[in-house]
Amino acid sequence: MDKLIVEGKNILSGTVSVSGAKNAVLPMLCASVMISDGLVIIKNIPHLNDVTTTTSLLAKMGMTITMDESMNIQLDSSTINNTFAPYELVKTMRSSILVLGPLLAKHGNAKVSLPGGCAIGTRPVNLHIEALRKMGAKLDIFNGYIHAKCKKLQGVTIEFPQISVTGTENILMAGCLADGITTIRNAAREPEVVDLCNFLNKMGAKISGQGTETIIIEGVEKLKGASYTALPDRIETGTFLIAAAITGGKILIKDTISSHVAIILEKLKEAGAYIKTTESTIELDMKKKRPTPVNITTGPYPMFPTDMQAQMTALNSIAKGKSEVLENVFENRFMHVQEMNRMGAQIEVKENCASIVGQDTLKGAPVMATDLRASASLILAGLAAEGVTEVGRIYHIDRGYDCIEEKLKQLGAKITREPM
Ligand code: EPZ
Repeated sequence: MDKLIVEGKNILSGTVSVSGAKNAVLPMLCASVMISDGLVIIKNIPHLNDVTTTTSLLAKMGMTITMDESMNIQLDSSTINNTFAPYELVKTMRSSILVLGPLLAKHGNAKVSLPGGCAIGTRPVNLHIEALRKMGAKLDIFNGYIHAKCKKLQGVTIEFPQISVTGTENILMAGCLADGITTIRNAAREPEVVDLCNFLNKMGAKISGQGTETIIIEGVEKLKGASYTALPDRIETGTFLIAAAITGGKILIKDTISSHVAIILEKLKEAGAYIKTTESTIELDMKKKRPTPVNITTGPYPMFPTDMQAQMTALNSIAKGKSEVLENVFENRFMHVQEMNRMGAQIEVKENCASIVGQDTLKGAPVMATDLRASASLILAGLAAEGVTEVGRIYHIDRGYDCIEEKLKQLGAKITREPM
């Protein structure tokens, strides 16, 4: 296992180009299972462990996958010879559940390991299962696996009792090859869901309403191969904006979509940052100032993203004053707090609210990453702290950030990777 060594108090400045969005690419890879003829080519693939895990899972099913040197991936689903998603792969990456809908839609059967929980919560998949049952699939759960089968999925109206990103994605993929019309109410509106729908429509699906709370999918006979470029990662964008802001620095972010991070930009302006945007670039300048505290409430898009909560908590930990962070999406997403407090932060968590008293500065310390975004927030805290911070278990960060230390070094950060 590796660790990252961060020497703090360096003001970051420079330019960073954002990679493709993990949470758009993962469902697209799974959707490729449904192709009847032709190849799927997905461009702008980020270099992430979660992408490798997903392609390993699909390869184990028999899919033929080639990746070229510019990180474009080519998938041929005609060689698929089984519909089994084993525990040893699914346990490392919950989003493997996204093969369930496509396998049922195309092959009429699937045996997929229950994903199990992770550090940020129990993360059940009951909404996925209930909705697929409503579409006519038979799903039995025993020995830690979902055993699913169906003759042909039926288009129905699904009203999600709470918004679920991958729940919406599983059902909209299943609906592509179902009989009739599938209507999803209370659908997730994240840009990654919209990108998946646009990708599927390029393959011949008939989806409308993406980006609103009601998505309508008209089932078609088959889907054909297509080429598609995944959208840029809005969470990587936000993370690098805060890397500049927390060190009082400035940054130009390229190849992003500024409208997808509107709420993050609004909060960073409130924190005192100067921000200038075009459609695909964002310039932030903190002008060496200490941030003003900002209250945050997370929720489904377009509310403040839960995947940016830990990073904003880090910024608030050195702000000049008090702030509150309300986490409404996951039940245990404050694991980074006790680690930040070891660095001298003053954060108290009561139920789903973190109350923060900003400190002049933090002190570097050895800390432990517990999940993907918590790891990022500890690196951000280390960038702002006096002295050296060692972030352990950074396999979490490698799941979701493409060469994070290389990109941070480009901005002037003193950060190195060493074996634990
Ligand atoms: C997706 O997870 C993202 N992952 C997460 O990103 C992100 O944090 C989350 O959406 C919220 O935006 C991918 O897209 C691969 P949910 P997902 O279903 O779909 C509850 C990252 O850092 N729920 O929207 O698993 C659930 O427990 C990751 O990149 C059920 O109760 O999240 C949670 O409280 C972390 N039953 C809430 O709904 C279900 O069947 C929202 O979860 C499904 C979800």
